[in-house]
Amino acid sequence: MKESFLLAVTGDKGGVGKSTIAALLAEWLLYNKYAIHIIDADPNQSTQTWIDKCREVGRVISTRDANITIVDTAGTSGSSLTKYIRQADMILVPFKPHVADLEVIVGWFLSLKEELQKRVFFIPNMLSPTKEQRAGVEELRSVVSGEGRGSVLPGLTERKAVYPPLLNGSKDNFFDSRLDKNTRAETSNLFTEVMRNLEE
Ligand SMILES: Nc1ncnc2c1ncn2[C@@H]1O[C@H](COP(=O)(O)OP(=O)(O)OP(=O)(O)O)[C@@H](O)[C@H]1O
Ligand SMILES: [Mg+2]
Repeated sequence: MKESFLLAVTGDKGGVGKSTIAALLAEWLLYNKYAIHIIDADPNQSTQTWIDKCREVGRVISTRDANITIVDTAGTSGSSLTKYIRQADMILVPFKPHVADLEVIVGWFLSLKEELQKRVFFIPNMLSPTKEQRAGVEELRSVVSGEGRGSVLPGLTERKAVYPPLLNGSKDNFFDSRLDKNTRAETSNLFTEVMRNLEE
C-alpha cells in the first residue's frame, strides 16, 4: 500500500450528496481506526461546519498529519479544485440518476483525460426504486464500460431520517449509532468497495 492517499469528492452538480458522502466516508474510516485529514474546499463549508460541531461535543474528526486525506469540493471547475482532482488517487462523484443530472456528469466524464477517467468512481445517491433511476444508473454504467475507464460503485438509497442528520455533528461515530440493517449494509458495501479500490 502507498503511504498517503487523497480522495476527492466532486462533481459538477450541487446538492447530490458530496458533503454527506465525504462525512460518511470519514466516519467509516474513523470507525475502522484510520486517521484522516479533511479539507473542505467548498466555500459553503458544510463539511468544515460538521467537523466543528463534532469538536464542540468533544470528538476530533480531522488530524493534519493523517495519511488519508478527503477533500470535499464545490464542483469540478476552478483551479484549486482542478488541482485536488489531478492529485487524487480516487475521484468520487456522487450523482442522482436523473436524466438532466446525468447529461452533466457524462459530459464532464467524457471531457477528462484518460488518466483521470481511470480514477473516477461514480456513486449513485438518493436512490429510490424507480424505473427511471435504474435506467439512469445503467446508462452511466454503459458510458463507463464504453470508455473502458472509471467505475460505478454501489449506491446509497434516499433515507431522509438517516443521512441528513449526520452533518449536524455528533459525539458518537455514525457507525457506532443504532443503524438499521439496510443502512449498515449499503454503507458498508459502498465503503468496502472504496477501500478495496484504494488499496489496489
Ligand atoms: N442518501 C441520501 N438520503 C437522503 N438525503 C440525502 C442523501 N444524501 C444527501 N442527502 C441530503 O441532500 C442534501 C444535499 O446533500 P449534500 O449537502 O451532501 O450535497 P452536496 O453535493 O455537498 O451539496 P452542495 O453542492 O450544496 O455542496 C442534504 O440535505 C443532505 O442531507
Ligand atoms: Mg457540499
